[in-house]
Amino acid sequence: MNQAFKSDVLFGLNSSPKSLPCKWLYDSRGSALFEAICDTPEYYVTRTELSLLRSVVDKVASLVGPNIDVLEPGAGAGIKIQLLLDALQSPRTVVPIEISPTALEQTARTLKKKYPELNIEPVVADFTSEFELPAHFGRDVEKKMIFFPGSTISNFGPEERRQLLSNWHDLLQPGDFLFIGADLIKDRRVLERAYNDKSGITAQFNLNLLERIARELQTNLDPSTFRHRAFFNEAQKRIEMHLESRQDQSLEIEGQDFSFSEGESIHTENSYKFSVTGFQETTVAAGFCPVETFVDENQLFSLHLMTVQD
Ligand code: AVJ
Repeated sequence: MNQAFKSDVLFGLNSSPKSLPCKWLYDSRGSALFEAICDTPEYYVTRTELSLLRSVVDKVASLVGPNIDVLEPGAGAGIKIQLLLDALQSPRTVVPIEISPTALEQTARTLKKKYPELNIEPVVADFTSEFELPAHFGRDVEKKMIFFPGSTISNFGPEERRQLLSNWHDLLQPGDFLFIGADLIKDRRVLERAYNDKSGITAQFNLNLLERIARELQTNLDPSTFRHRAFFNEAQKRIEMHLESRQDQSLEIEGQDFSFSEGESIHTENSYKFSVTGFQETTVAAGFCPVETFVDENQLFSLHLMTVQD
């Protein structure tokens, strides 16, 4: 059994208000559901980023130059890094980091097949905790890059975001790069639709967290007694996902009792939205310097190429 999962669940449900860390949404079913979300017509994020990325990779490749090593925290299926690798001039080592070992193996296999010249060094880790970098990374190359697409940065609140960016800053040397995607603030109807798709896939994705608790822990929890809820919190500039109890109920999980009133929710995810300048300021505060910022024509999504200042 996954001890970290168990202790996070017990800790989160003992907190007030109740919450669960969003990283546990991504077991193999959760990862598959996330891929399905990306295909819904309402979820503009992935589609917009992919087409923006396609249109800017050549420019990025010329700005960063040849012989580069790339680290990708939370690599997932590795679709985006392939777009980047296709454009880069003789990249050397790629380090995909993924919490899900099955997803990582698959990604590493795909990359090895498509780029036989490349040195692929996958790392199974939660990229927010400490992990060991492969010895090859950054050896005998001109430059290093941390590639963090997908607006995964959206999952981190201001303090954790600052921490993560400054940890990465410390992994890099002056002249190295951070290439990062950030979803933009926009009409709340567009935002809320993206997290409440008509086909209910986002709801399934969210509810899968309860199914995971029911599968992996000792409990009488019935996931169908909860409903998905997502809304834009204007003051905090974030989409919040919650699992709301449909009824008063008491649950037992691993021998502990938890009571829920009708309408009480478990906060499962934040997805922060940024302005271009607001996002730049955050990265600058962590010691980065903007090289080039790219935004799609509808101003939905942004990609930022940053460098470490001398
Ligand atoms: C993977 C964090 C970018 O916040 O849009 C999508 C996750 N959650 N639908 C996002 C997510 C519900 C996604 N990120």
